[in-house]
Amino acid sequence: MPGIFRDHLLLGKHAIVTGGGSGIGQRMAERFAEHGAKVTLVGRKQEKLDAAAEAIRSSGGTSRTAALDVRDYAAVEPAIQKARDEFGAIDILVCAAAGNFPAPVAGMSANGFKAVIDIDLVGTFNTCRAAYAHLRKPGASIISISASQASIPIAYQAHVCAAKAGVDLLTRTLAIEWGPEGIRANCITPGATDDTEGMRRLTPTPESRRRVEQSVPLRRYGTKDELADLALFLCSDAASYITGAVYYCDGGHSLVRSTLALAEQP
Ligand code: COA
Repeated sequence: MPGIFRDHLLLGKHAIVTGGGSGIGQRMAERFAEHGAKVTLVGRKQEKLDAAAEAIRSSGGTSRTAALDVRDYAAVEPAIQKARDEFGAIDILVCAAAGNFPAPVAGMSANGFKAVIDIDLVGTFNTCRAAYAHLRKPGASIISISASQASIPIAYQAHVCAAKAGVDLLTRTLAIEWGPEGIRANCITPGATDDTEGMRRLTPTPESRRRVEQSVPLRRYGTKDELADLALFLCSDAASYITGAVYYCDGGHSLVRSTLALAEQP
């Protein structure tokens, strides 16, 4: 579905999106392509990336793929170099690759905790670190996808809380360190978003979905399009003085969510 902006805001720009083969990352990549950006989709599964890249091309956009695991720095670095060689300096970098499963701390293995820290937090570091040399300076915009778990403790989400708190502060630190070179770095914090793997895992039943909807001030789930429009704004010239910010796009959920469980007890 097209977004609310009606111009080619990103003509000729190069966007790299990790987690771009599905979910929120995919919709952001599609939005960037609609606005004239060349898009590199990064993800673990080549088939998913191929399908997402083909969808962009069939709508008249320009896309390429890089299949890798963001946990593997040795794979990330050459893939970003190749993306730069083919599509030019990086104007937009979205770190959307993430993992999640509901589990109590006492029922989570050390490897399970580490898997989410490594994908969400270390993966964001790896992507930004490897991209640094290839970012357009001045002008590049980094967007990290966070979660309200970054600032609100939520039962069965200890790994995500720890990882996303790190993502927020890593991103805001990048805003300080890389700001003098004209690189902006911001976070987007989605709320309960329809048609995403995360919410399928966290609220798997109609009852749990209804419970979440009732607790959101706007009384509904958000959409991937609403997040894509926010990402488009943040990497456009309209946001040229915005850096180090954490933007909530959650229908007000974080205002009222308590430390009670969001996720079903697994
Ligand atoms: N409950 C408890 N532990 C779990 C689990 C669950 N539902 N799912 C995975 N784990 C543990 C595994 O048991 C393993 O630990 P172990 O070696 O001690 O058994 C560890 O996590 C790593 O799991 P693995 O199967 O090797 O997967 P992975 O490292 O490739 O990826 C995830 C792990 C979490 C990313 C995977 O579940 C996934 O791909 N999720 C889909 C992406 C997603 O959730 N996106 C939405 C983000 S909001």
